[in-house]
Amino acid sequence: MQAEVHVKEILHSGVELTDRALERLLPREDEVPSSIHKAMRHSVFAGGKRLRPILAMESARMIARGELPPGVENLGAAIEMVHTYSLIHDDLPALDNDDLRRGKPTCHVVFGEAVAILAGDALQTLAYQTLAGLRCPAEAMVEIVRLIAEATGTMEGMIGGQVLDLEGEHTSPTAESVDAIHRAKTGALIRVSLVSGGVYAGGDAEDVRRLTEFGRKAGLAFQIVDDVLDVTQDSEHLGKTAGKDLTSDKATWPAVFGIEASRKHAEKLIAEAFAVLGPYGDAAEGLKAVARYLVERTH
Ligand code: IPE
Ligand code: IPE
Ligand code: MG
Ligand code: MG
Ligand code: MG
Repeated sequence: MQAEVHVKEILHSGVELTDRALERLLPREDEVPSSIHKAMRHSVFAGGKRLRPILAMESARMIARGELPPGVENLGAAIEMVHTYSLIHDDLPALDNDDLRRGKPTCHVVFGEAVAILAGDALQTLAYQTLAGLRCPAEAMVEIVRLIAEATGTMEGMIGGQVLDLEGEHTSPTAESVDAIHRAKTGALIRVSLVSGGVYAGGDAEDVRRLTEFGRKAGLAFQIVDDVLDVTQDSEHLGKTAGKDLTSDKATWPAVFGIEASRKHAEKLIAEAFAVLGPYGDAAEGLKAVARYLVERTH
């Protein structure tokens, strides 16, 4: 019960901090050209869980031994912009062709494909503009820019993973193929959220190594759970089209291992991830609570 209250508080304040930063950083709807600013805001403020910013901030808090480093919410907001860009593009007709996201009609359904593509692009450029102004030492800022660009790129990064995901449709997925897809399309951004939070807070090479390992496991567990929820929840609860992976014949974890084994594997990954944070003792409790939520969530 204690742990549950604790995680609810972390999630709630993490959402608030992130949303305030996003509100400040995104152009207002009435700025010209207003169509794209409306589209960016439509998707960013449709009600995401803000898990990547929260992971970045809790990671920074752990490395700073309890204090949230000033300005870290801008790092979280930039990561959320990158994530939202990836969702807008993921939903496009040429990719997953989805019409529901975060409980609202998808960006291209409301604003048309051209503006949706450009809104995704614009969120990505605004993310790097935001990163360039981070309030951490310049060396850490440059490292964060490099890490995020790499994690969202084509070599074992988000875009590479999206390509593997699309090319994996209508194939017979294997343990190796789903592992590669999941680690890249989703795992890499989760991992870099954790690592960049640590770098922001002044973590050393050993901290980065531990956060990388923790993030690898937590990131894979997160996408396994996403696949399980796709087959076990309904669209209203998820805020996105349930059962979509089956109808698109996607290479998913449950397609290879079944639902129960998928759930168990996600649990095992989180237990292994926790062990990596042993050296931080009590300072890791917040981050662990959020990681547990990654696998226990129902949407
Ligand atoms: C959904 O991510 C897309 C995946 C990478 C699986 P989230 O489940 O974090 O979605 P939001 O941000 O809360 O909408
Ligand atoms: C999305 O994976 C991954 C990225 C957006 C990079 P999914 O296609 O499984 O995400 P959902 O289920 O549509 O949220
Ligand atoms: Mg997809
Ligand atoms: Mg999708
Ligand atoms: Mg999915």
